Amino acid sequence: MLNGKFDNKEEDFLKVKSENYFLDDVIEGLSANQKFLSSKYFYDDEGSRLFEKIMQHPDYYLTNCEWDIFLQQKESIKDAFYKVPEGFNLIDLGSGDGYKTKILLEYFYQNGVPFRYVPIDISEEPTVKLVKELKKSFPELSVEEQIGDYSQILSSLNLNTYKKKIVLFLGSNIGNYGYKGSLDFLKSVREVLIPGDQFFIGFDLKKDPQLIMNAYNDNAGYTKEFNLNLLSRINRELYADFDINSFVHYPVYDPGSGATKSYLLSTKKQEVAFERQNIVFKFEKMESIFMEISQKYDMNMIEELANLSGFKVQKNFLDNRSYFTNSLWEAV
Ligand code: AVI
Repeated sequence: MLNGKFDNKEEDFLKVKSENYFLDDVIEGLSANQKFLSSKYFYDDEGSRLFEKIMQHPDYYLTNCEWDIFLQQKESIKDAFYKVPEGFNLIDLGSGDGYKTKILLEYFYQNGVPFRYVPIDISEEPTVKLVKELKKSFPELSVEEQIGDYSQILSSLNLNTYKKKIVLFLGSNIGNYGYKGSLDFLKSVREVLIPGDQFFIGFDLKKDPQLIMNAYNDNAGYTKEFNLNLLSRINRELYADFDINSFVHYPVYDPGSGATKSYLLSTKKQEVAFERQNIVFKFEKMESIFMEISQKYDMNMIEELANLSGFKVQKNFLDNRSYFTNSLWEAV
């Protein structure tokens, strides 16, 4: 059984918004009894730069796990994907710079696998760069990029094709959705597939709690800065006056449920003003703001999520330390 319905607002992560609701969401979060901010707002330019640094830091083991899985198991992955002679559409949700995916793309291409690559990402710059690179390295590859929110694009995707679909959702992004949010998201992916289509999704697994704590509290302080940057962003964009130096980053891991939660703690009793709205938020000493959930899973949880959302688990591709799995699901 999964760890029940979480008691916080992480399902908010999934909300698709066409306008900028940043201010409304921040006010709502800071007005709650348990104050919270949505981690989807981490990724402004500075936040994205910090996230890159986190991903390159050795304490954040997740990046290398998936890299190793692709490098060492690309042949088995190809065999599991390439089942029908006419090939498939490979739809990559949140493709980013394609750093890890390129291992698979190159291998498929060089082995004559017929496929079309459809990267979908909200950030234009890395997507354009990725497509340019792919066209140069693999001139025969059909690439059809889409810029925008992948949950929106996915539902309107018209591939005009009879070919099988394989959806990629790499990294451990599913872990940021919380329980309800992840189920809603998985069901929305299932809705655009037909039986026999596949879903290839990354899950970070439960492991030595100390390793997980180090990943969310790296010794260079990037994760701390990443969390605090959201307060700076609120100051910059919403004209608030958070005193960044009076908040500390505090991650916790619950080995039972697998939930890793990050908080910012106010180190003193203080007030934060939003001058333009004429609103003041009061913080007690040691009062927390819930910032992010990064769920860790075991195989039963993965199987249950698959079954509840209309898939069956076909195969798990684990790294050699069993820290992470890329789980291949089939739509049923
Ligand atoms: C994007 N996501 C999978 C990261 C994670 O591990 O939850 C975000 C992150 N937060 C702190 N470090 C990395």
